[in-house]
Amino acid sequence: MCGIVGYVGTRDALPLLLSGLQRLEYRGYDSTGLAVCSADTMRVVRSEGKLQQLQSKINPTDFVGHTGVGHTRWATHGKPSDQNAHPHCSEHIAIVHNGIIENYHTLRNEIESDGYQCVSETDSEIIAHLILKTLRDGAQTLSLALRGVLPKLEGSYAIVLLSEREPERIVAATNGSPLVIGKGKNEMFLASDVTAFLSETNHVVYLEAGDVVTLEQDSIDVVNHDGMPVSKSSSEITWNITQAEKQGFRHFMLKEIYEQPQVLSDTLSGRIDAANAHVVLDEISIDPALQKLSLIACGTSFHAALIGRFLFEQLARISSSCELASEFRYRNPVIGTDELTVVISQSGETADTMIAAQEAKRLGSKILAISNVIDSSLPRFSDHVLYTRAGPEISVASTKAFTTQLVTLALLAIHIGVQKNTIDDTTRSHLIDELMMLPTKMADSIRSSECLQDIIVHYENARGFIFLGRGNLYPIALEGALKLKETSYLHAEGYPAGEMKHGPIAMIDKDFPVIALAPQGVLYPKMKTNIAEVKSRGARVIAIATEGDKEITSLVDDVVFLPDIHPLFLPVLASVPMQLFAYYVADRKGTDIDQPRNLAKSVTVE
Ligand code: F6R
Repeated sequence: MCGIVGYVGTRDALPLLLSGLQRLEYRGYDSTGLAVCSADTMRVVRSEGKLQQLQSKINPTDFVGHTGVGHTRWATHGKPSDQNAHPHCSEHIAIVHNGIIENYHTLRNEIESDGYQCVSETDSEIIAHLILKTLRDGAQTLSLALRGVLPKLEGSYAIVLLSEREPERIVAATNGSPLVIGKGKNEMFLASDVTAFLSETNHVVYLEAGDVVTLEQDSIDVVNHDGMPVSKSSSEITWNITQAEKQGFRHFMLKEIYEQPQVLSDTLSGRIDAANAHVVLDEISIDPALQKLSLIACGTSFHAALIGRFLFEQLARISSSCELASEFRYRNPVIGTDELTVVISQSGETADTMIAAQEAKRLGSKILAISNVIDSSLPRFSDHVLYTRAGPEISVASTKAFTTQLVTLALLAIHIGVQKNTIDDTTRSHLIDELMMLPTKMADSIRSSECLQDIIVHYENARGFIFLGRGNLYPIALEGALKLKETSYLHAEGYPAGEMKHGPIAMIDKDFPVIALAPQGVLYPKMKTNIAEVKSRGARVIAIATEGDKEITSLVDDVVFLPDIHPLFLPVLASVPMQLFAYYVADRKGTDIDQPRNLAKSVTVE
């Protein structure tokens, strides 16, 4: 959730920390801070608000040193404030922490009774005091002090610490919050996310839970909690930092919406044998005895899971259930050994999702991860992985990561269906043709959804919005409402259209518009009835309809037409008007689209 960047090397740490923090700001941005140290001097600065506020407090000539650490925070314990921002200090020690220390009340009482005074409301500050105390009690080095403290900490953490007494190194430990080392020439970086240092190096080493690392400009020393050496291999990141920049678009969200034709084609690339009309998923092997699927995820990824259920049930005739990760863990779920748990997380770092995956594995299920971030925690933990290949998604509101999840689920469902012999050859060949058309039709959907930019002016005074869908478009209604809430802070609900009359219709009047997902198909007559019901109560209606549908224009106020596609893949195309509607409304309102208030890209706390 929060972001960490550390540096030790031969260059000035300050500019490298600032540029790393800028790239990490999407992870949390209610306060920031950094520490730079050189022999016998440590300078620390912290500020509530965004990075710019921190920068305005810094006189670069005061922050001289080749070692440092920076942090961008998303508040969990204690409000966003200068005092609660990291780094937290205790005499010559400065630490930054991601995650949550669950027993911090007990530890705080202990440390305060030993005479250490906590000045923040955070769970993190106690770590700095505990380390200082351990050094005073005789630990010889920062690494030994950190290892002495770790057994006391319950919860998840990535901790990085430095001291003016050991200015040539940074020391860190991780348990459930990601940390990755970037290896440069005579320098090392350490961050919660590679984007923090990717402009400097693409050689990385991932740390695992239990690792304690000491980094010096030319050495990486990883040990476990007992001090036993842990060997690590390095890998190379193949995408570059320009892929993570805006490239002329006003916002990352817009850029990422427009990237969808390309990324869908990347998701499909190499996974379709067009000549033989087959899906090729060599990355995974599915047990032919598979009888049941559980899909687990949070937020937008959960909406992908809901659509996945349709795909698996219809194409592979496999009984499938979906559950929010945050609920799964506490339900004492029953999992059979003939069951596969498909865990979806674009970031691969969502704490609720990770914990649910751990629980499913503990109960005997194999885990198949669908993730966008290579070697993030979830893929590393899982038995099988399918990467969605959306490239870096910077906008907090997910767009391309979602639609690539849908395509990945479709590939998986066809793959399992073929294995289980539930798809005949003609259907398989038709499905493959339609899948291959998706990138082109995605571009058409973007073009035709651009009309929403003009349409939204009619909806400025709305008290709230309701998104209606049926079947596999009901999750898209949920997604449309979520996108609008996130980016515009407006009240919006997604509803299965058939449920309207059981309550929500009471909200409908001329100031409560409806966005109706109403493509032609078996559920079209039902949707038309629902549209008539809300129209007769005064609602203004935007329909998302099938290209060429002349009838719909006379039933609603505004229409966005989508190209025709196999109904199972329609959610991919129907996501676009949801995304652009949310984007245009937010842009008109002037909200902070890429970094909506109170949100963070990767939610690494429960
Ligand atoms: C909304 C959004 C979130 C995430 C959710 C899970 O636009 O992005 O709802 O989908 O926080 O995140 P991941 O997929 O990274 O596990």
